[in-house]
Amino acid sequence: LKLFGKYSNLANLFFIYKLYIYIYMIIGIIGSGGREHSICSSLNKSKIVKKIFCFPGNAGTENIATNIKINLNNFDELKNFIFKEKIKMIIVGPEKPLVDGIVNFLEKNNIKVFGPNKIASQLEGSKIFTKKLCEKYKIPTAKFGIFKNFKEANDYLKKTKFPLVVKADGLASGKGVYICENRNQAITAVEEIFKGKFGVAKNILIEEFLQGEEMSYFLISDGKTIKKFQTAQDHKRVLEGDKGKNTGGMGAYSPSRLLNNELDKKIMTKIINPTIKGLQEFDCNYKGFLYAGLMIIDNEPYLIEYNVRMGDPECQTILPRLKSDLFDIINSCCSGNLSNTKIEWHKEKSLCMVLCSKGYPDNYENNILIENIDQINLGKNDYCYHAGTIKKESKIYSCGGRVLNFVSLSNEFKGCRKNSISLIHKLNWPNGFYRKDIGYKVIDQ
Ligand code: AMP
Ligand code: GLY
Repeated sequence: LKLFGKYSNLANLFFIYKLYIYIYMIIGIIGSGGREHSICSSLNKSKIVKKIFCFPGNAGTENIATNIKINLNNFDELKNFIFKEKIKMIIVGPEKPLVDGIVNFLEKNNIKVFGPNKIASQLEGSKIFTKKLCEKYKIPTAKFGIFKNFKEANDYLKKTKFPLVVKADGLASGKGVYICENRNQAITAVEEIFKGKFGVAKNILIEEFLQGEEMSYFLISDGKTIKKFQTAQDHKRVLEGDKGKNTGGMGAYSPSRLLNNELDKKIMTKIINPTIKGLQEFDCNYKGFLYAGLMIIDNEPYLIEYNVRMGDPECQTILPRLKSDLFDIINSCCSGNLSNTKIEWHKEKSLCMVLCSKGYPDNYENNILIENIDQINLGKNDYCYHAGTIKKESKIYSCGGRVLNFVSLSNEFKGCRKNSISLIHKLNWPNGFYRKDIGYKVIDQ
């Protein structure tokens, strides 16, 4: 304090701190999808952020950040790069590094990182961990059983009703969930999981099928304060009318049509608050984004699953609605100061359409040139986020099932969808397909 003489009052110190991060703020983002491109774009708008590195990023992030190929399973390699480039903060997009404990590792090395630690990440890393938490804290969720081997599961399947849901316990890139109409389907699911399709399976989860409408509910926390971070509705099935196979998400709109004050209160008191309390039992405070996948039945919320990150494509749908500075919000989470940080939103609605490679979610070709992308003129309320894209000799090629995200803001969902469709038409990528009916529950046909 003596050092700063007359600047020693708190306001001035705060100013000096701001100046420090203004001069030096270099950020790293882990991930390569549409979610990460949208996070990167939002941070890039912040006056405070000087430089962004993406590990490994995509062709979209390459325009505004430096993409770095690094082995994300080797945390030491990442740490060395962070020190070398004087990166001041790391934001973790996907679940795998979180579940693998990247936050614990970086914090141990005094590196600022936004995301939950290894224990908190069990909320997504183990469905059984979450179910047990639900049981203990009476959090509403589908009735369930945990089975240790094929025989136990099979005995249960002989006497139960269908449909039901069979789930692998651990991370399965969104593929370890089987909705089973009959016993044969359930037996196949149980066999596949125990045979190791999603890694070694010590246990299996079988749960009641909940009939309702899904909502993605987002929060952000610094470990002491938890704030809402909007809602969205994803469209997981590959075909129009919610038919066909499950995907990572074919599009979303925000806010969810289901939310009302009464439901919001129930979600907080019956689901979120008891979860945070439950984690404290493990001496664990939750820092990062938290995504509750909910089934809403007659205005009552049931927890289907937790994700310890933003959703994809929900993140791309929600961030363009954010009025406040994303860097300020995330930085305040890292310094335990979220309670003093305002999170403000634009009043417009948002809708995101995902352009996929033909064949997705099964087999599809990679390395298909995306020719017209530079010719697309985005309006003030339009966004094009890259997902599975790569730049080679200044040309952009596909390299994934979900390739591009078109997002539009408007007063009405119908206007959002019209804009996104017209952008996709302008792009006219012959290898692409998309669901034209995103938002069909909120848009009159
Ligand atoms: P999850 O990976 O747990 O989100 O499951 C993937 C999808 O399966 C969810 O988004 C739901 O559409 C569906 N699902 C999972 N559990 C249930 C359940 N108990 N009842 C109905 N649908 C479910
Ligand atoms: N949109 C689903 C997910 O991110 O898991």
